[in-house]
Amino acid sequence: MSSEKRFGYEWHKYQEIDPNYEIQFLKWIYPLKPKDFKGKKILDAGCGMGRNSYWALKYGAKDLTAFDYDKRSVKAAVKNLASFKNARVEFKSIYEIDYKNQFDIVFCLGVIHHLANPHLAIKNLIQSIKPGGLILIWVYGYQGNVWIVKFVNPIRKNITSKLPLPLVHFFSYFLSLPLWFWVKIFKGPGLYLRQLSGFKFWHIRSIVFDQLIPEIANYFTKEEAKKLLADFNELKEIEIYPVNNNSWTVLGQKYD
Ligand SMILES: C[S@@+](CC[C@H](N)C(=O)[O-])C[C@H]1O[C@@H](n2cnc3c(N)ncnc32)[C@H](O)[C@@H]1O
Repeated sequence: MSSEKRFGYEWHKYQEIDPNYEIQFLKWIYPLKPKDFKGKKILDAGCGMGRNSYWALKYGAKDLTAFDYDKRSVKAAVKNLASFKNARVEFKSIYEIDYKNQFDIVFCLGVIHHLANPHLAIKNLIQSIKPGGLILIWVYGYQGNVWIVKFVNPIRKNITSKLPLPLVHFFSYFLSLPLWFWVKIFKGPGLYLRQLSGFKFWHIRSIVFDQLIPEIANYFTKEEAKKLLADFNELKEIEIYPVNNNSWTVLGQKYD
């Protein structure tokens, strides 16, 4: 089963919009701010159950298109965004989108690191931006995740990404318990574990589950992450920002 289908299982199970997702969204989109979305035309690529689109719409986006390549994810996003008449959710693959020069801001959060062909995906996203518009991606970092790369990644790659999802979900409960106790007691170390200390148990479990299920998970050094956008001549002013010392937000602007 492909990664997007496996994520569909996750977003079907965990489809509630939690207020903590706003804090996460604000970290992922930095240096953009809520005011940057006001009156803008937005594309959310690989939207999952719509938790990021939700905040962009709350911040006053004029028009938003979200897409994902899994039917259950699309269904959950349609439900979560139903109250916004200026939002539409489409079932599409990032490899086949044909939007051209349409959007002021294109964001793609937590998707690129799960793709077999990130270059083609980003090429398609750049094509969809208006001249002068922005592309923002958030990807896993290598720095700050060395222990995941060394210990969790081999288990994910060789075992849990191949196991039936209900079974992985069952295991995720027992792996989440010690993490939950740890973050509640120590509230760290580091920014990310401090952030997790404010999350409910189900949320921590969903993150653990999310780490265990995909076929592909790439962890980028700073240089590799920046290169994801810097490889494209259509973009200028590419900047990279660390998030929680374990991931990267990369932002670029399309030439006018
Ligand atoms: C970790 S989830 C992140 C979802 C969402 N961006 C969020 O932050 O909640 C990765 C998402 O990428 C989607 N995805 C994977 N391959 C895709 C493809 N080829 N086209 C579109 N979406 C894809 C998955 O279905 C999944 O919803």
